Amino acid sequence: MKVCWELFNAIEITDDGSVYVCCEQRVSKFSVGNIFKDKFEDIWNCEKLVKMREAALKGEYPYCNHGICEKLSRGGVEKNDLFIEALPSYKPVMTLFPIQIAFPLERDCNAKCIYCRDEIISSKKEQIELFNDKFNNIYLPIMKDVSIFTVNDMGDAFGSKLSRQVIKNIINRYPKIKFKLMTNGICAGEKFIKELDLENRIVEFSISINAVCEKTHYKIFRVRGWKLLLKNLKYISKLKKMGKIPSFHFKFVVCSNNWKEMAKFVKFASKYGANADFWEVRDYWTLENKYEDLAVHNETHKDFEAFVKSLVNPAFNEKHVVFSPLLMKLRNKAISEKEAKSEKSIWQKFFKIK
Ligand SMILES: C[S@@+](CC[C@H](N)C(=O)[O-])C[C@H]1O[C@@H](n2cnc3c(N)ncnc32)[C@H](O)[C@@H]1O
Repeated sequence: MKVCWELFNAIEITDDGSVYVCCEQRVSKFSVGNIFKDKFEDIWNCEKLVKMREAALKGEYPYCNHGICEKLSRGGVEKNDLFIEALPSYKPVMTLFPIQIAFPLERDCNAKCIYCRDEIISSKKEQIELFNDKFNNIYLPIMKDVSIFTVNDMGDAFGSKLSRQVIKNIINRYPKIKFKLMTNGICAGEKFIKELDLENRIVEFSISINAVCEKTHYKIFRVRGWKLLLKNLKYISKLKKMGKIPSFHFKFVVCSNNWKEMAKFVKFASKYGANADFWEVRDYWTLENKYEDLAVHNETHKDFEAFVKSLVNPAFNEKHVVFSPLLMKLRNKAISEKEAKSEKSIWQKFFKIK
């Protein structure tokens, strides 16, 4: 029986202490408890999660958001490597604590990404003290069985002093730990990777790039980082070639500023040996009133039709391209419409000749 790995192994905690068993659940706001209020043992084996695991062990996922979960929507249980053979230890009530954990490392970042903020954010001394307190008293105790730490929250794995310090502390405490990292890549160079002793510890590296040229990159990140990024990508792709990064992804959040660069991004990612992952800009609170302007995937957007047409490009058939369920739906629709049109024109021509 194949089951979703995350339900038995992973948790993700957000700013307000809510605990989620995977990112997709977070999107559908399905928290299994609150780490600031409840005992972790109770959260990890709460009624909701026990029910989800029971269902998963029967091959069912009634509590998951199938429209948002990329794994369930793309071929489901049989065709996706997130789904693995259930181990004998996989029970509705788990005795082992999670082996993969993500918790928030504040919002510190070296960029002012248009999707996320208008200012460079850097934690003050009091915030760092508060974080350290949570780290020592709340997060560390639940990490007793951890083997993968994920850094993918609102800050940046490399562009934040706090995140770098946490990575260092975690390695000191758990010398065998591995990492899943998400970063804008601007500070993810040889210097920090070596200094943090990460060269042999990255199981998944995701880099948010969103562009194929300096001008668009600046429009989105609003800091000058393109040249540094290219230098870092060269070094990281060398690590990938050496087999040190099993899972390597370039991320592209599609919006009105960058959709015309999507096809070029497919080539760009392949040059560095990375997957090209596309998803649409989403209406998160951080966008305030910018969503309507940016959301080119919305029917009401002035560029919607041209955007959807562009998705027909065969460049997106490449194996290393991953589309979100929504983008995939738009693409499939555009392809069907194009095929129907060309069939119609063949018949029209045929009858004209006759
Ligand atoms: C918040 S960032 C933090 C990690 C890191 N600083 C980075 O740039 O990847 C995580 C990812 O979420 C994406 N993101 C942020 N706001 C978004 C939104 N409103 N819709 C879709 N994706 C968004 C970013 O582009 C980035 O790929």
